[in-house]
Amino acid sequence: MSPTPASPESTDTAANTSADTPDASDLLPPQGAPPAVLLQVLRAVQARCQHIPEPVVLALAARLGLGPAEVRSVVSFYHFLSSTPRGRFTVYLSDSVTDRMLGSEALLERLCQRLGVAEGQTRADGRVSVHRTACTGLCDQGPAGLLNGWPLTRLTERRIDEVAALIEADTPLAQWPPDFFEVRNPVWRHELTLSHPIAPGLALRGFAALAQAQGLDAARTQAIATLRDAGLRGRGGAGFATWQKWQACLEAPDAPDAQGKAITCNADEGEPGTFKDRLLLMAWAHEVIEGMTLAGLSVGAREGFLYVRGEYAFIAPHLQQVLAERHTQGWLGANVAGTGQAFEVALHLGAGAYVCGEETALIESVEGKRGIPRSRPPFPVDRGVLGRPTVNNNVETFVQVAQIAVHGAPWFRAHGTAASPGTRLLSIAGDVPRPGLYEVPWGLSVAEVLAGCGVTDIAAQVQAVLVGGPSGKLIDASQCQRRIAYEDLPTGGAFTVFGPQRDMLEVARQYTRFFAAESCGFCTPCRVGCVQLVDTADRLVQGHASTHDLDRLRDTADLMGRLSHCGLGQTAAHPLLDVLAHFPQAVLPRLVPDVRAFDLEAATVPHPSRTWTPA
Ligand SMILES: Cc1cc2nc3c(=O)[nH]c(=O)nc-3n(C[C@H](O)[C@H](O)[C@H](O)COP(=O)(O)O)c2cc1C
Ligand code: SF4
Repeated sequence: MSPTPASPESTDTAANTSADTPDASDLLPPQGAPPAVLLQVLRAVQARCQHIPEPVVLALAARLGLGPAEVRSVVSFYHFLSSTPRGRFTVYLSDSVTDRMLGSEALLERLCQRLGVAEGQTRADGRVSVHRTACTGLCDQGPAGLLNGWPLTRLTERRIDEVAALIEADTPLAQWPPDFFEVRNPVWRHELTLSHPIAPGLALRGFAALAQAQGLDAARTQAIATLRDAGLRGRGGAGFATWQKWQACLEAPDAPDAQGKAITCNADEGEPGTFKDRLLLMAWAHEVIEGMTLAGLSVGAREGFLYVRGEYAFIAPHLQQVLAERHTQGWLGANVAGTGQAFEVALHLGAGAYVCGEETALIESVEGKRGIPRSRPPFPVDRGVLGRPTVNNNVETFVQVAQIAVHGAPWFRAHGTAASPGTRLLSIAGDVPRPGLYEVPWGLSVAEVLAGCGVTDIAAQVQAVLVGGPSGKLIDASQCQRRIAYEDLPTGGAFTVFGPQRDMLEVARQYTRFFAAESCGFCTPCRVGCVQLVDTADRLVQGHASTHDLDRLRDTADLMGRLSHCGLGQTAAHPLLDVLAHFPQAVLPRLVPDVRAFDLEAATVPHPSRTWTPA
């Protein structure tokens, strides 16, 4: 699945586009390579040439057996790919709500001004371009951004000036101060997961021992039964029972291509405010891959795909190293842990598209295509990657899978609630004294979580908490006794706090814009609905909307919720609806009188010359 260099005898002269464009021919796959390599090759070409030159498009189309339009459509889909040249230094500043709260708008203006470049444009000398991007997964150390794929953290005016100076001096990135790129993972609370690293291979050895003693089928049945007894539910947001997914995939007939089944690990983590998978990928990669491998052995998959969001490309070298180590140790390869089963894991990087976190869009992206969600059924467990039955789980789910395999179901069940066993990683950002990572048992109240991150007086310090990101639930301070649990407030791991000084309507507007920017445009309710929501939000903020607009907003939200093709469109109206429901004081004073309530008859002064009496 990974790109392979062009063979020396290949005849096209793909990448020599002009004297100014670097040669990319060594990045192209050989003739007849599977089209699934497309996205990874495009990423590599973009990194070298700062765009995808048209001759590369044509060469890729010819070699992969695709139409040029198909290749161009992939380029146009992903934010980090471009058909026109971006700067040799390409800067993306995060435009997420929490970065804005920390002053990112002013920093972006300052950087553009220092460098003499307009936002979104490439400077005439080709050296630099400055863009905004939705969210970089660094909300706990914002304002943040990316520079040629490397994270820029804790930006200040001073640092922005230094960044501009280093770019002007054409300083190679290797010579930049390393602390510019430092990503910290402050963990403020450890529970079961973050206190129990497991030795690489331990869970697999247990599986192998059982398979040897009682046979492979018994080991598979046991692995899935343990997950059932533990009550593990997926940590990616929807909370689906992990064992049921695995069981369905195990029972699904193999794909006709005889390539077996597949496992995908969803490390797209695009929900604004979520960054817990970043920690796991950076510090718990062995456990993540151990969980994937256990899934592979349990359902009979030979291939796994670790799909990591493009914003986390800086973690890729570490992940590759861990994969290599596991190969050397026999935890991956042709005979995993002596079970006689083969399992390989390939790393796939996204290229900037939130919707690729939706599991069927992720599968499309793994196949090298635009990340447009598929129709379901068939579900991935029946037809997933390249038509193979596929288990897709979140990063945190896989870590907990490995831990449950080692420590057992009762160990896991001893935490949390009956309906939500175990613990949950929370990425806490916004107006809190200690933003960062927290592991909490399910069932803790929002107030208890807030107390843990330094909030001493909820009434004075907290106006709102967004539980689960913009597609989740926005609550006000009076609801802080509610519990973080599937039976009350489920969450995919984001937890963003807003102090009393925040304009909640403006916050909702920013989240609505995020959804509109990230809508893949495939289905009309979402494509058109998102634009209408943004329009309504703009008019509300500007004081041009009336109660009529609120009625229209509710109608649009209802239609989007019922008819959108995937979760993005189904939840895009949540921020505005929640602000209307819980923060009417942010909306109602801005309304103008409803034009429909204007009585034209009563307002018109009768004039004798204009009166008309029927005969
Ligand atoms: C728009 C959208 C974005 C999503 N993003 C993610 C994501 O970044 N990570 C994730 O694990 N699940 C995400 N999901 C949920 C996945 O579709 C899927 O339910 C999840 O990966 C299943 O894994 P789990 O069972 O371990 O939770 C997203 C869903 C939607 C609709
Ligand atoms: S709901 Fe939105 S993101 Fe999902 S398929 Fe439709 S247009 Fe694409």
